[in-house]
Amino acid sequence: MKTIAFFDTKPYDRESFDKVNADYGFNIKYIPAKLNETTVPLAKDADAVCVFVNDTVDQVIINKLLEMDVKLIALRCAGYNNVDTKHAYKKLHLVHVPAYSPYAVAEYTLAMILTLNRKTHRAYNRTKDLNFNINGFVGFDLKGRTAGVIGTGQIGRIVASILNGFGMRILLTDPFPNEEFAKSIDAEYVDLQTLCNKSDIVSLNCPLTPDTYHIINDETIEQMKDGVMIINTGRGPLIDTNALIKGLKSRKVGSAGLDVYEEESDYFFEDFSNDIIDDDRLGRLLTFNNVLITSHQAFFTEDALGNIATTTLQNIKDFFADNKLPNEICYHVCDDECDKEENGRCW
Ligand code: NAI
Repeated sequence: MKTIAFFDTKPYDRESFDKVNADYGFNIKYIPAKLNETTVPLAKDADAVCVFVNDTVDQVIINKLLEMDVKLIALRCAGYNNVDTKHAYKKLHLVHVPAYSPYAVAEYTLAMILTLNRKTHRAYNRTKDLNFNINGFVGFDLKGRTAGVIGTGQIGRIVASILNGFGMRILLTDPFPNEEFAKSIDAEYVDLQTLCNKSDIVSLNCPLTPDTYHIINDETIEQMKDGVMIINTGRGPLIDTNALIKGLKSRKVGSAGLDVYEEESDYFFEDFSNDIIDDDRLGRLLTFNNVLITSHQAFFTEDALGNIATTTLQNIKDFFADNKLPNEICYHVCDDECDKEENGRCW
């Protein structure tokens, strides 16, 4: 029986994985701690490790896992910016869950847009306090406004389609445009600057890469409309937090919905309600009533959790059964070096 060291376990992970594992029969060692240099010894005797978005999988950790003869790192998420994929290449196989529910994330993006626009987060607290005044809650009709979607992969396309359903004009930007999709919702691919210039709402739905790091910065914010709404359900470092705070303070940015945050790994998914936080930028962001911060929960639906567990355990099963690995991740875009076409694995 193969053993999986399962890092950063939360009660909901255990529930969804135990349910699916009834059909797979792995020995899952649930570990509440995140994977890092201190906790990596807990992977001893494991055949595979299973990690999430805020676990550290850098060169040091990969080397230590190799020393322990771990053969596979299974990410139970889509993004893998926390993994040194280049260092892992030809040493350790990496698999992930490329899609578990793009609808979950896209629908959550809409939840943030509607909340910020109509201020229901503030109205909830006001009426709880028996204050039935609606001063300050004025929003705008989405119909007829312009939304800009940065990244038109699985999630971005659903976001764009839903916003199109509200009667919004849709602008898209992506280095790999999908013209057929754009046509289907009467949207238009434009460059980033045009998208910034013309959008009332900007939604970040691209991965974090060297090209997209701080894609929202002083310069791009300056190009945006006054009062723009910025929504980030992608990855925290897509936004330069200092630039965002500056934009909010100057009123250039009208509102921001952040399901992810640059330094989230120190805080998100944990309870600090009996403590204080040391991160002054997070503290400042929390003071704006036009900023909605949530703790990386866009993916969090029962459908997505079930899909994550099933795909992760199937990935692990395929690896140990020497099957093809359709969800393998690799640091280079497939080219001549790649065995994937022939052997179904990157190497
Ligand atoms: P995807 O891989 O299907 O699509 C990403 C798209 O972004 C691709 O079309 C790609 O060409 C595009 N892109 C790459 N560089 C770009 C750039 N410089 N400018 C504009 N577009 C660019 O990925 P998917 O499934 O749509 O997910 C997007 C991101 O959402 C993930 O990488 C992940 O970081 C984030 N995510 C967040 C979750 C949450 O719970 N908050 C859950 C799942 C994903």
